[in-house]
Amino acid sequence: MRLSRKEKNSYWMPYTDNKWFKKKPKLLESAKGMYYNTIDGDKILDAVAGLWCVNAGHCRKKIVKAVQKQVEKMDYGLSFQMGHKLSFEFAEKLTSILPKDIDSVFFTNSGSEAVDTALKIALAYFSSQGMGSKKILIGRSRGYHGSGFGGTSVGGIVANRNQFSNLLNGVIHLPHTHIPEKNSFSVGQPKYGVEKAEALQDIINFHGSENIAAVIVEPVAGSTGVLVPPIGYLERLRKICSQNNILLIFDEVITGFGRLGTGFASDRFKVIPDMMTMAKGITNATVPMGAVGVNSQIYETLIKNKKEKIELFHGYTYSGHPLACAAGLATLEVYKDEKLFENAKKHENYFGLKAHNLSKLNMVKDIRNLGLVAGIELENRYKKDNTLGRDVFEECYKNGVMVRFTGNTIALSPPLIINKKQIDNVFDVLRFSIKKCF
Ligand SMILES: Cc1ncc(COP(=O)(O)O)c(C=O)c1O
Repeated sequence: MRLSRKEKNSYWMPYTDNKWFKKKPKLLESAKGMYYNTIDGDKILDAVAGLWCVNAGHCRKKIVKAVQKQVEKMDYGLSFQMGHKLSFEFAEKLTSILPKDIDSVFFTNSGSEAVDTALKIALAYFSSQGMGSKKILIGRSRGYHGSGFGGTSVGGIVANRNQFSNLLNGVIHLPHTHIPEKNSFSVGQPKYGVEKAEALQDIINFHGSENIAAVIVEPVAGSTGVLVPPIGYLERLRKICSQNNILLIFDEVITGFGRLGTGFASDRFKVIPDMMTMAKGITNATVPMGAVGVNSQIYETLIKNKKEKIELFHGYTYSGHPLACAAGLATLEVYKDEKLFENAKKHENYFGLKAHNLSKLNMVKDIRNLGLVAGIELENRYKKDNTLGRDVFEECYKNGVMVRFTGNTIALSPPLIINKKQIDNVFDVLRFSIKKCF
C-alpha cells in the first residue's frame, strides 16, 4: 500500500472516479521522452502526451534548464500595471508562428481560463463599439472548452454540464458534426456534413446577428472522443461569421502546437479565426500556461475605443508568469530545432494506417483520425456498457501503454517525437487489450 487512507481522502482528484482510482492507485513517479516510470518500477509508453499536452516529450532538457535558470533569477513578476521582459519576448515569438493577423496574445494559466478570456474579449469588443446587444455566445454540442463557467456553458458534453444548473444565459449550441451512418471509418476529414454549418445561419435568422457575439468551436473536437470536421465545414462557419459580424473563435488548446502536423489547426484547414485559445503544448506542459491569440482589429478596437484607462478589466495574478514564459520560449525552440510539427506530419499516414487496421476487429465501431490524433470507438459489450473504455485503458496500462478513454472511445495523441517502432508498440498493445476485454 503506497498511499495512506488519509492521503487518499485528502486529495480530491479532478475528472476522476475517485472511489475506483483509490481502490488501486496508479502512480507515476518520473518521466523521460516518450515514457513514464511508475512507482512500481514499470515503464509506460505515453500514447496521449500526458493530457494532449507534452508535445515534445517529457522532461526536455532545454525546457527544464530554462525554467531552472529563470526561477533562480526572478521567481515571480507581476503583470498588472507592471511588466517583465520575458512576457513581451514570448508574446512576440508566439505571434510570429500564429496565423496571419493574430498579432497579440493575452496570457492565462490554463485552457479554461483562455476560453473564458476569449468569450469576455468578444463581449468587450462589441460593447466598446456601442454594440452591447451582441451578447449571445454560440458553442457546439459535444464540444469541450474547459471547466470555467464560460467554457462549461459553451461546452456541449452533457455529463460536464449536468451537475451545474446555473450556467451562463444566452448560450446556444450548434449541432455536432458526427454522422456515423455516413462517415464511419473515414480516413482523415469525413466527406459528409458540411451542411451542419447551416445551423449557424438558422440561429442567426432566428435571433438576429445584432444579438450574437461569437461562435466557439474546437477545429477537431478531442475530449468528446475525436470528431474531425467534415470537409468544408470550418470554411462555411468562417464565411457565415464574416458575413454577420460574428467573431469566430477556434479553441486550439489541443490542436495547437503541431498536433495535426501543422503549427495550428487553422494552418491545416486554412481557415483563420478572429481569436484562438491555446494552452497545453504552449509550454510543453512544463509550467501551466494558456493564451488567447487575438487579431489586430480586435486588439486595436479595444485599445482605441475604450474610454477608461484600462481597456480590459480582466486578468490573472499569474498572467505571463516568468517561469511559464521561460518554458514557452524554450518549447518553441525545441519544436523548431527538432522539426516536431514536421515529424507529426511525416508519421500521420503510418499512424492513421495502424489505427485503421483495427477496423478488422468486429468490436470496433468507428475509427477517426487526423494528424497524430486517433479515436477508436468500440461497440458496447452489453446494454449500457459504460466501463469498457476504462477496462481497455487498464489493460493497455498493464501492458505498458497509456491511452485515454472517453466512454467507450479510446483516444490516442502521442508526443510528436514518436517513431515507427513506438507506433507499432501502441497499436499492438491496443489490439491485444481490446480483444482481451471483449
Ligand atoms: C479544447 C479544449 N479547451 C479547453 C481545455 C481546458 O484546458 P485546461 O484543462 O488547461 O483548463 C481543454 C482541455 O482538455 C480542451 O481540450
